[in-house]
Amino acid sequence: MEYNDKVMDHFANPRNVGKMDNPDATATEGSYTCGDLVTFYLKINDSSQIIEDVKFLSYGCASNIATASVTSEMAKGKTVEDAKKLTWKEITDELNGLPGSKIHCSVLAVDTLKSAIKDYEIKKGLRVADPFTKDTIFQELKKVIYPPASEDICTLKMVKYVYFDDGIATIIVDLPNYDQYKEHIFEDIKETLSRYPEVKEVKVQ
Ligand code: FES
Repeated sequence: MEYNDKVMDHFANPRNVGKMDNPDATATEGSYTCGDLVTFYLKINDSSQIIEDVKFLSYGCASNIATASVTSEMAKGKTVEDAKKLTWKEITDELNGLPGSKIHCSVLAVDTLKSAIKDYEIKKGLRVADPFTKDTIFQELKKVIYPPASEDICTLKMVKYVYFDDGIATIIVDLPNYDQYKEHIFEDIKETLSRYPEVKEVKVQ
């Protein structure tokens, strides 16, 4: 796999790596594509809402480490509201690009940062945990990347139908049978949604 010099630099010399003592917020998320994990820790100034320190631990591949490293750098010094606007595209751009099959690593990094921010907001009473709805399914489907296009399946308009009722999530994806990524995408969707206790069954067609 070909990584550019900047990815290799962040992999070999990750910034802000390590565990944080007494963080204001933390989150661990896993990639359903590969099983890798990343943890973010945040120190947030309650009055200014500025993220004063970020640390991360990675349990994954080279781009898991590199994307978490860049995400930590980009989040540090930002307000909570600005950090919430970071996207995986900005992370990969900052790294001068990633191979298509590794885009999901940047999705994992930025999503884990946002989960840690959510943890902070819930702890401070600034929000309540979201109820599970059809919108939750769309949000999760936006994390499923179609590797040849390095884009998520919603942006690529591959998602044709989403329905959620009585614990059953039904998703119709427009992918031909001969597409070599079809099974991989279907598995990714099932695993992503199955972690929600509200979802008893996932049907993908
Ligand atoms: Fe697992 Fe990169 S996060 S392959």
